[in-house]
Amino acid sequence: MKSKIVKVKKGIAVQTPQERIYIFDTTLRDGEQAPGASLNTAEKMKVALQLEKLGVDIIEAGFPAASPGDFEAVEKIARTLKKTVVAGLARAMKKDIETCGKAVKPAKRGRIHVFISSSDIHLKHLFRKTREEALAITADSIKLARRLSDDVEFSAQDASRSEWEYLARMVETAIKHGARTVNVPDTVGYTTPDEYGRMVAYLRNHVPNINKAVISVHCHNDLGLAVANSISAIQNGARQVECTINGIGERAGNASLEEIVMVLKTREDKYPFYTNVNTMEIYKTSRLVSTLTGFMIQPNKAIVGSNAFAHESGIHQDGILKYRQTYEIMAPQEIGVPESRLILGKHSGRHAFTKRLEGMGYSLDKSATDLLFEKFKDLADKKKSVYDEDIEALVEEKVAASAEIYHLTYLHTSAGSATLPTATLKVKKGDVETQGAATGDGPVDAVFNAIDQLTGFKGKLENYSIKALTQGRDAQGEVTVTLSTNGDEVNGRGVSTDVIEASAKAYLNAVNKLSLKHSKKSTKVSFDIQKGLTL
Ligand code: KIV
Ligand code: ZN
Repeated sequence: MKSKIVKVKKGIAVQTPQERIYIFDTTLRDGEQAPGASLNTAEKMKVALQLEKLGVDIIEAGFPAASPGDFEAVEKIARTLKKTVVAGLARAMKKDIETCGKAVKPAKRGRIHVFISSSDIHLKHLFRKTREEALAITADSIKLARRLSDDVEFSAQDASRSEWEYLARMVETAIKHGARTVNVPDTVGYTTPDEYGRMVAYLRNHVPNINKAVISVHCHNDLGLAVANSISAIQNGARQVECTINGIGERAGNASLEEIVMVLKTREDKYPFYTNVNTMEIYKTSRLVSTLTGFMIQPNKAIVGSNAFAHESGIHQDGILKYRQTYEIMAPQEIGVPESRLILGKHSGRHAFTKRLEGMGYSLDKSATDLLFEKFKDLADKKKSVYDEDIEALVEEKVAASAEIYHLTYLHTSAGSATLPTATLKVKKGDVETQGAATGDGPVDAVFNAIDQLTGFKGKLENYSIKALTQGRDAQGEVTVTLSTNGDEVNGRGVSTDVIEASAKAYLNAVNKLSLKHSKKSTKVSFDIQKGLTL
């Protein structure tokens, strides 16, 4: 309990106690479940390390029984993180719980997160179990999980569509057998703030042993209410919130971490709560997740969208210049958006470049800085002004390059109104460079065909989008593609002053991700949730 908010009552300053809200980040589990968002182990590790820097309390690193790749990622993250709790998800079944127990064992602080459904609709149609059977499975699963870890969380999936009396019995059973956190998700994003708040209040008042556990909430965003529902739950007694960076996740996604944290921070006059999140790391974390998943952030996204702090209207600009608070409720610096818009160009030296990198929150070793400086000089030759977004793209490209199998070394295209569009490419895999050429409907299609030929990729282009990274005619183009093959879907991203090259990079980035995925021969379990429900 902290005392922080100072209110003035009758001229006397009064300290209001603040209670801590635990932030449970599930970007690497529920977030990664979003179609196309899949990450490999090295990428998951980068996100996990950044989340630890951000100061989240718990990282749900994956679903260890889902595939060997998931197991490996959870185990490596568990081994590496120093202070954050590392959780793994498990269905309420012996195999899942034991696999999860093994994966989180190396953690300084590991958690097993067991779930089963509590709604009649799930029990009847998905699990084909009676309510009494589900209670018995809950008891047995939690007992087993507690033998493997001191820290066990229980989730009653689809809690928000469950009968409250039965939900209360299930939660009581889980706590009785050792669950320290009880999560009551709005799995399908159906509830509303007042209803969800009342449900949490009901559990507080009707579960006799509720004070032995932390109430957690986990909201999906199908009706755009995930953050509002989470805040209402906090007001009614929830003390852990499950959320993801940029709100990514199944279907319409999960409650967005940055929005929840900034609501509590910005309106601490209204909500007497605090989190341990270092908000200065929000922007960087958001960009990292966007780059690695290939999920672009919509410009008007709250907190982290590129327009979140941009003022276009003349009246607004005038107000901001006169007194910032006229139109800004948060300062961009609070979430780590660098204040200085110092623009670099081809005359800028290494010192200015390094200072800018530091100012943007990057601390890179000498060899990485040297490499980036070279790339910065190349870019400054092509475009007059190098903005923060351009520098970010260089850093992100370097991050993505660490997971490359195929690397683009040469690109030439010819196209025109009376020419058959043709692309010639060279691609390096390890030390071997191969060359290929192809034609297409246009230069981008020709490039994609040439990459298919060189990499042997056989799949489908599901989505292609392009946007300018900054303003001006010399702005870099940012291309995002979605590729699918054998039921897997991934996003790829590429940035360049040449949009054809950006397209090639994005396509190759996605092919690399799919190749890595397949080279792991990950055998995802088929999710027949009913099978193996008994311990
Ligand atoms: O949405 C949900 O119910 C979940 C649970 C598995 C926690 O993701
Ligand atoms: Zn979920």
